[in-house]
Amino acid sequence: MAAVARTSRLASRLASISRPTIAPRASIPAFQRAGFSVSASRTKSEVIKETEVPVSVYNPDAKGAASSTPGHFSIPVKGSRPSAPPVAEENDTVTPLDEKVYKQMPRTLQKMSVMGKVIIITGGARGLGNHMARACAEAGAKAIAIFDANQDLGDEAAAELHQKTGLPVSFFKVDVRDGNAIDAAVQNVVDLYGPPDVLVNSAGIADSNIKAETYDPAMFRRLIDINLTGSFLMSQSVGRAMMAAGKPGSIILVASMSGSIVNYPQEQSCYNASKAGVIQLGKSLAAEWAKYNIRVNCISPGYMDTALNKVPALDAQKKIWKSLTPQNRLGDVDELNGLCVFLASDASSFMTGSNVIIDGGYTLY
Ligand SMILES: NC(=O)c1ccc[n+]([C@@H]2O[C@H](COP(=O)([O-])OP(=O)(O)OC[C@H]3O[C@@H](n4cnc5c(N)ncnc54)[C@H](O)[C@@H]3O)[C@@H](O)[C@H]2O)c1
Repeated sequence: MAAVARTSRLASRLASISRPTIAPRASIPAFQRAGFSVSASRTKSEVIKETEVPVSVYNPDAKGAASSTPGHFSIPVKGSRPSAPPVAEENDTVTPLDEKVYKQMPRTLQKMSVMGKVIIITGGARGLGNHMARACAEAGAKAIAIFDANQDLGDEAAAELHQKTGLPVSFFKVDVRDGNAIDAAVQNVVDLYGPPDVLVNSAGIADSNIKAETYDPAMFRRLIDINLTGSFLMSQSVGRAMMAAGKPGSIILVASMSGSIVNYPQEQSCYNASKAGVIQLGKSLAAEWAKYNIRVNCISPGYMDTALNKVPALDAQKKIWKSLTPQNRLGDVDELNGLCVFLASDASSFMTGSNVIIDGGYTLY
């Protein structure tokens, strides 16, 4: 009965909006088909296996003042894992949490901070990951390490965050498919700042408007490799570092509401499957690693207004997305920040294996 009512509500909402003419796949350029990622333009057979990881370190000097000269160096990648890659936003102030202010805060708010924590954020060069990095800086992080496949944006993002906050911020050019490079970078974070307290895994790509019957299997594998295997490799490497240090940790995997529902109208079976996998991976790791005091939770956003969603080709679909969202809008790029800080903080200490959906109500219908 409830299902019938839900279906008829959905049908009447959809009938009230005009259906866009969606061009056949072949006539849409790859960068537009990709939804909020241009990643589809990369070659299908790309194998990532770096022999060294370029690093840029922005550290305060001994007196505590921000140094403007970064240290650039590369770290070698060793290891024997089997083989398996910022847009500046408006209103750019980032105010780090001052030790004095922290001490004056009530206990509840202190617990909701990430004071003194070492935080690794993948996909932090831009978009949601970049904003979560800024939020962690404002919430008291001791140091931030950005892992991203995009050298230029990543370096720019780290330099900017350091400049605005005076905090130690590093950028590691790491592809989340490259286990050995990840291990080398995580070890370097330990050497620079101490063992990580928090991982935020926001790196991910999307291929959309691709029908399952014509989905190129190589593209399918590539997306799974980045979104799902990448989440695993990052969690494994950071989890091991947390276990070795014997300290509690929080791992936050950015999944998607697409891991729980099927998006409309665009076909994107692979993306949806990859995010369902991320949610189940998060729950599995949460169960396994509770004994090490490592918590693992997922954030599942709905449609967010990130840079690559701002392409004219998606305007028609966006009207449908909004009409199916009770709040009748896309999420702002900083609207995951509060949940990210909460999950990273000790305020969520009894929370593990959860998948929190932030979607303006999309999944209610
Ligand atoms: N934007 C949305 O509407 C939306 C909705 C739900 C979920 N998400 C998820 O949120 C996360 C961030 O999305 P966004 O909108 O900020 O995307 P974005 O494209 O703006 O940012 C993604 C970042 O990940 C990096 N990246 C991509 N592939 C990588 C790889 N193999 N290794 C390392 N870094 C890599 C990119 O260089 C980029 O900096 C993704 O996991 C995405 O699936 C986004």
